[in-house]
Amino acid sequence: MRTEEFTGGEAAPLTLAERVVTWQRTHGRHGLPWQGTRDPYRVWLSEIMLQQTQVSTVLAYYDRFLARFPDVTALAAAPLDEVLALWSGLGYYSRARNLHRCAQAVMERHGGRFPPSSQALAELPGIGRSTAAAIAAFCFGERAAILDGNVKRVLTRALGFDRDLAQASAERELWDKAQALLPRQGIEAYTQGLMDLGATVCTLRRPSCLLCPLQGGCVARASGDPTRFPVKTKRLARGRRSHALLWLQQGDRLWLTQRPDSGVWAALWSLPEYESLEALRQRLGALPGQGQALPLVEHALTHFDWTLQPWRHVLPEGDAAACTAAEALLPPGRWVTLEEAFRMGLPAPVRRLLEREGG
Ligand code: ADE
Ligand code: SF4
Repeated sequence: MRTEEFTGGEAAPLTLAERVVTWQRTHGRHGLPWQGTRDPYRVWLSEIMLQQTQVSTVLAYYDRFLARFPDVTALAAAPLDEVLALWSGLGYYSRARNLHRCAQAVMERHGGRFPPSSQALAELPGIGRSTAAAIAAFCFGERAAILDGNVKRVLTRALGFDRDLAQASAERELWDKAQALLPRQGIEAYTQGLMDLGATVCTLRRPSCLLCPLQGGCVARASGDPTRFPVKTKRLARGRRSHALLWLQQGDRLWLTQRPDSGVWAALWSLPEYESLEALRQRLGALPGQGQALPLVEHALTHFDWTLQPWRHVLPEGDAAACTAAEALLPPGRWVTLEEAFRMGLPAPVRRLLEREGG
């Protein structure tokens, strides 16, 4: 490993950290809405939103969320449904549920103030080690290492770290290296710089080494194939699942049901789900009205690809008996107009389906 390129010595006086800091100041991202603040609430919110979502998407949600929940007190006091509704479209809803739980934990355990150390932050719901370090670095100037997916990529490449990150001991070793690389000064710019490098320069498939401040000492670049880092063997076998969704409509209203508190799309409002189209149609039995299959909805989740077959059944308008008969067959829920539905916490694919077919 040619770490000497980065760690000083006569020939190459700049350390990796110094290069990252200098680069961040001129080429990194500035002026994002969560950057000009040391308010842990705002920084925490941005870090959670940014965990699996790109900056460009988060921008559309961040200010709206803050306008409704300006501080941790407001968020902790809000009904979960409302938090999920504002999150709707960002995906990975466990983040929103943990966000809400975390706000409540900050109220209960810390009197409404985020604790000012990465260690204490990491004990709160939904805040992992890397997120805790990012918040502590940005808000309190703490020298704590971040190591999210992007940063793992930058560091394993720069250092030529080729141990298999599926092994816990390799992961621990990389954390130690990340901690040892931290600068004495400028932890904020360094932390932001690593994130920015990972997102904009040292990308997964096509790293732009010629634009990279680490190119001179980068082991992966010297090897000719930077994309062979990071090494991680564990492969999730992706499964497939398919279900049917019932869009039951009468007049301008349709039936929505709230999903269970755990599992996929937990606690979100959705169309009733069935094992298969056959099971769905069997359930409807001889309800009066018209049925029709809608185009398939394909959705990729972390562990499986999900195919949903929506079926729209329209009950005869004004037929109260049909409505009552239908309700007896349906999971608990309520009749809502499309307009009301769009204000609820819907899974993004269901929202798109309603938008596309609801005209
Ligand atoms: N990804 C995670 N945290 C980020 C941040 N603070 N700025 C830009 N991208 C990020
Ligand atoms: Fe990544 Fe290339 Fe920079 Fe190395 S030189 S850190 S591979 S962008």
